[in-house]
Amino acid sequence: MIPKQTVDEILETARVEEVVGDFVNLKKRGANLLGLCPFHNEKTPSFTVSPAKGIYKCFGCGKAGGAANFIMDHEHYTYPEALKYLADKYNIEIEEEEQSAEQIQQANEKESLFIVTQFAAEYFQQQLKETENGRAIGLSYFKERGFREETIEKFKLGYSPDEWEAFTKAALDKGYKLDYLEKTGLTIVKGEKHFDRFKGRVMFPIQNISGRVIGFGGRTLSADKKTAKYLNSPESEIYHKSRVLYGLNLAKKTIIEKDLCYLVEGYTDVISFHQNGVENVVASSGTSLTTEQIRLIKRYTPNITILFDGDTAGIKAAFRGIDMILEEGMNVKVLAFPEGEDPDSFARSKSTEELSSFLKENAQDFIRFKTSLLVSEVGKDPMKRASLIKEIVNSIALIPDPIARSVYIQESGDILDISEQALMSELNKVRRNTLSKKIQNKEREEKREDFGVTDDTTFLQEKPKPQEKPLIYQEEDIIRTLIKFGNQDVEIPKEKDDDEAIVLTVAEYVVFEMEEDNLSFTHPLFDKIYALFKTAVESETSVVENTLVSNEDKELSSFAIECLMDKYTLSINWYDKHQILTLKEEEILQKKVHRGVCSWRLTKVQQMLEDMQAALKENPDNYESIYEEISRLLQAKKALGNELGRIVLR
Ligand code: CTP
Ligand code: MN
Repeated sequence: MIPKQTVDEILETARVEEVVGDFVNLKKRGANLLGLCPFHNEKTPSFTVSPAKGIYKCFGCGKAGGAANFIMDHEHYTYPEALKYLADKYNIEIEEEEQSAEQIQQANEKESLFIVTQFAAEYFQQQLKETENGRAIGLSYFKERGFREETIEKFKLGYSPDEWEAFTKAALDKGYKLDYLEKTGLTIVKGEKHFDRFKGRVMFPIQNISGRVIGFGGRTLSADKKTAKYLNSPESEIYHKSRVLYGLNLAKKTIIEKDLCYLVEGYTDVISFHQNGVENVVASSGTSLTTEQIRLIKRYTPNITILFDGDTAGIKAAFRGIDMILEEGMNVKVLAFPEGEDPDSFARSKSTEELSSFLKENAQDFIRFKTSLLVSEVGKDPMKRASLIKEIVNSIALIPDPIARSVYIQESGDILDISEQALMSELNKVRRNTLSKKIQNKEREEKREDFGVTDDTTFLQEKPKPQEKPLIYQEEDIIRTLIKFGNQDVEIPKEKDDDEAIVLTVAEYVVFEMEEDNLSFTHPLFDKIYALFKTAVESETSVVENTLVSNEDKELSSFAIECLMDKYTLSINWYDKHQILTLKEEEILQKKVHRGVCSWRLTKVQQMLEDMQAALKENPDNYESIYEEISRLLQAKKALGNELGRIVLR
C-alpha cells in the first residue's frame, strides 16, 4: 500500500508532458503539445498534451487521461505499478505504509522463496553446462531435440543430477534453509530424510512477468512408462499455477507489437516457436486454461489464437478454452496442426517462413471452426442437429459485444443453413436465461451485503433505473460543480442580521448541506466522487485535481477529465483565465451550489414521499408510523420549496 499522501505527492509532481515525452515525440502547438498517438496508427498527429491541464487526449482514438493513466495504458501497468514508475522517475521515495509484523514476515518469506528458486535455476544451469553428466545426459538431450545454445540460454534450461539429494545438499551447504527448499517444492522432506524432487530431470524454469523464477517443470529422461513425463513445482507462496503463463515474460513485447498471442500446450512448444522466429507465444503449462491467465493476455492484446494438436481430444479441450476467452470479450481464432503433429514438432520441421505463413493461412475464426467441425460429426440427424445449434449459440451468447454477436450469428447461420432469425431468437433465449440467473445471484449478494457479509460492490456499477433520470442530472450538476470549483471559496450569506458571514470552500459547503439530512447520491459514480470530497472535507484537506484525473477508476477519471476540460476551455465566461472569481461571480457560484443541492434534496424528498404513499397503500395497518414520516417529509418539502424560491439567480 502506498500511503495516500505519497500518491498525492506523486500525482502532483508528475508533469504529463514529461511523462508522455519519454515515449512520444511531442511538438509545441500553441499552449499544447502535439504528437503521433501511441495507442493507434496514424499519419497526422492528433495526440494532444495539455501541460496546463495535466491531461493528454487523442482526438483520433479518444484515449485520454493524466500522467498515471498514460503509463498504465502504455506500459500495461496496474495503478500501483504506474505510481511506482512515476515515483522512480521523479525521485519520490515511497514509504510503504507501516506493515504488521506478520506482513513483514510474509514479505520476507516470499523474498526468501524467490532467492531459493533463483539459486536453484542457476544451479541446474551450471549442472547442465559444466558437469560431465549434465553435458552427457541433459545437454545432449536438448541438442537432440534441436534446441540451440542460445535457446537453452534464453530459457535458462538446466539439469538436475540423477542423485537423491545433490541439489538439496548444495543448497544447504550454501546456507539456504530447508524450510524454504521444502516450501518451493524443490526438496521433499520425509522425517529426517530429504530428496530432490526433480532428480534426474531436465529443467524448465517458470518465470513471472518480470522474469523472476517462481517454479520449475522437469522432464524425465528415462523411458520408464511409470515415471511421470513432466513434473511441476507444487503451488507455493510465489507460484500460483492458475495465474502464470509460461513464456509471457519473453513474449509480452512481441504480443503487443503483433497485437496477437498464440496459445500452446507446453514448454517445448513455446521454446521451438521462439527458436523458429515466432515469439508471441505462451503456454498454460500444467493446468487447463484459467480466466486469470486469459486476463493476463488481455493486458497486452485482445486477440488470441489457440494452437493444438490434430487429435480430437485436443480439439474438445480447446472448446472450453474458447468459451472462456469469448466471455472475456476477446477475439479467438483456432488452428489445428496436421494429424500427428504438435506445435513443437511442426515448428522444428519447418523453416521460419513456412511456420509463419502456415500460422497466417490456417488460423480459423472459432465459429467457422466449431460449426463446421460439429456439422461433420453430426450429419443429418435432426436431434443431434438441434443440440449442435444450441451448443454453438451458447458460445456466441457469451460474447459481450452485441455487434460481434450478430456477425457470428450471421456467419454460423450460413454454415448451418439456418435462418438468422431462428438463431437470433435462440440466442436471445439463452441470454435472457443467463441474465436472469445473474440478476438472481446479484439479489442474493445484495441481501448478503445488507448483513455486511461481502463488500463486493460490482453490482453498484449498474446503470440507474430510467425513472431516476431527473435526479441523476441534478446529481451530475452538483458533482460537476464540485470537480470544477471544489476548492473555490464562497461566502455564505447571513441568515439573520446578527449572524456572522462565513467563508467556505464549495466542497465544504456542499458537504455541509448534504449531510444535513443524511442523504446519499443515487448514482454510484457520483456517490463515489462525492465520498472523496466528503473525506477530504472531514480531514480538512482538499481533493487534488490529479487524483481525480488520474484515478484508478476509469469511469471516474474520464468523467473528471471531461469536467475539467469544460472548466478550462469552454463556456465559463465568468471564470477568468487567472481562475479568480470576482465577488459577483463568487456570489453566483454560491447560489448555484445552494440551488443545486436544494433541488436535489427536494427531488429526493419527493421520491421518498411517493415511496411512503405506496407503503401506506400496502400496509394500512402501519398507518401511524408511516403518517409520521410522511408529515416530516412534507415539512421538509415545504421548507426546501421556500428556500428554492428565495434563491434568485441574476
Ligand atoms: N506436458 C506436461 N505434462 C505432461 C505432458 C506434457 O506439462 N504430463 C506439456 C509439456 O510442457 C510439454 C508439452 O505438454 O512441453 C507437450 O507434451 P509432449 O509432446 O508429451 O512432451 P515432449 O517433451 O515434447 O515429449 P515427446 O518428446 O514425447 O514429444
Ligand atoms: Mn512433443
